[in-house]
Amino acid sequence: MSSDLNLPNGFARQAGSLFCEDTQVSDLAEQFGTPLYIYSQTAITDAFLTWKQAFGDARHLVCYAVKANSNIAILRLLASLGSGFDIVSGGELERVLTAGGDAAKVVFSGVGKSPAEIRRALEVGIRCFNVESSSELYLIEKIASERGDTARISIRINPDVDAKTHPYISTGLKENKFGVNAQQALELYRYAQGASHLQPVGVDCHIGSQLTEVAPFVESVQHLRDLVLQLRKSGINIEHIDIGGGLGIQYSDEAIPSPSELISAVRAELDPLDAELMIEPGRSIVGNAGALLTKVLVEKAGDTKYFAVVDAAMNDLLRPALYSAWQNIVEVSVTQGSEKNTYDIVGPVCETGDFLGKERSLSAREGDLLAVMGAGAYSFSMASNYNTRPRAAEILVHGSHTHIIRQRETLSSLWQDEQIPEALL
Ligand code: LLP
Repeated sequence: MSSDLNLPNGFARQAGSLFCEDTQVSDLAEQFGTPLYIYSQTAITDAFLTWKQAFGDARHLVCYAVKANSNIAILRLLASLGSGFDIVSGGELERVLTAGGDAAKVVFSGVGKSPAEIRRALEVGIRCFNVESSSELYLIEKIASERGDTARISIRINPDVDAKTHPYISTGLKENKFGVNAQQALELYRYAQGASHLQPVGVDCHIGSQLTEVAPFVESVQHLRDLVLQLRKSGINIEHIDIGGGLGIQYSDEAIPSPSELISAVRAELDPLDAELMIEPGRSIVGNAGALLTKVLVEKAGDTKYFAVVDAAMNDLLRPALYSAWQNIVEVSVTQGSEKNTYDIVGPVCETGDFLGKERSLSAREGDLLAVMGAGAYSFSMASNYNTRPRAAEILVHGSHTHIIRQRETLSSLWQDEQIPEALL
């Protein structure tokens, strides 16, 4: 398979050169250096609008999952398109606010919210807490009561559905730490209904990430539907149903259902309830809109294979090391007749797990540029400074315009918050 077969929206090859929108990718590497994250603004916009259109005439709110890529320029772009936000920390909340996002469109997920995070979310008036345990519900009630406030809440249901994805990103099985079962949820809703500082407004779930089938979504949505019917029977008015995120993207040749296929199947189950539908997509909005550019530092013939050692590493892109994830790697410039070889593409970090791709057929001479595709989601947002490597710059491309949306970190900034005890001076 030519590695170019699946170039996603926003990327194309012309006369051998890789382009992001109307911008030649090799120019970006030259201007800003490598490793470098680049994102297509058009691809992000298209992906978001595809979700909106998928809902047709159904009342809905798309809440972008900030953890996928939390750069404030990307949050701003999505806010300007009307997006809501799914957050999992006080830090993500402040990013959304800094980017000009609307607090009234924020849902707050996560199994461990701190009192300070809950207080701040109440203070700015978020749309809803997605509550994951009884302790959390009581804590929210206590803080809301101290503030003389009412917290809008939804209980996250763990429907015990197999999302058929990598075990580390599967969240809807009963052995996972997320959500509560339907029986417990019912009790918590009854409690909340009688509590003067809590207002139950929705139900939610999220069964995992990089899902490639509609069936597990439908199964979990059926559980939500049954619960909503029961709740309404007991006089608890549920206004919205949040089905979580998780729709996968094509990294290689997987067949992925479209947002409209997914939403049609969901609407078939939920339309009779006449509730507002909410969804929390992350990866499917930004994943294929981004690429990580890297330069080959060293070509090395091992005893059994060839290595191309590149200047990006597991600290820049953890997914291959953490989940054995496969992401397409392409040459930035293809020259006629250049010889291909089979390489493991590895980084300079001192760990054998530091690879970006294995057994890739590429032309990867020293000094050549490569692009790791599908790097818009869970890539920069999971980057670290391991091996004292500054995190890469991020560039937003729009047509032939380019904007630095995050500067490359400087070395001295990496230890600026560290201190040597006086006794050692
Ligand atoms: N809502 C909740 C409550 C979540 O936990 C997540 C993702 C999402 C929405 C968004 O899911 P998405 O639409 O992006 O699949 N680091 C992993 C993915 C972790 C996903 C965690 N939760 C990876 O690189 O594959």
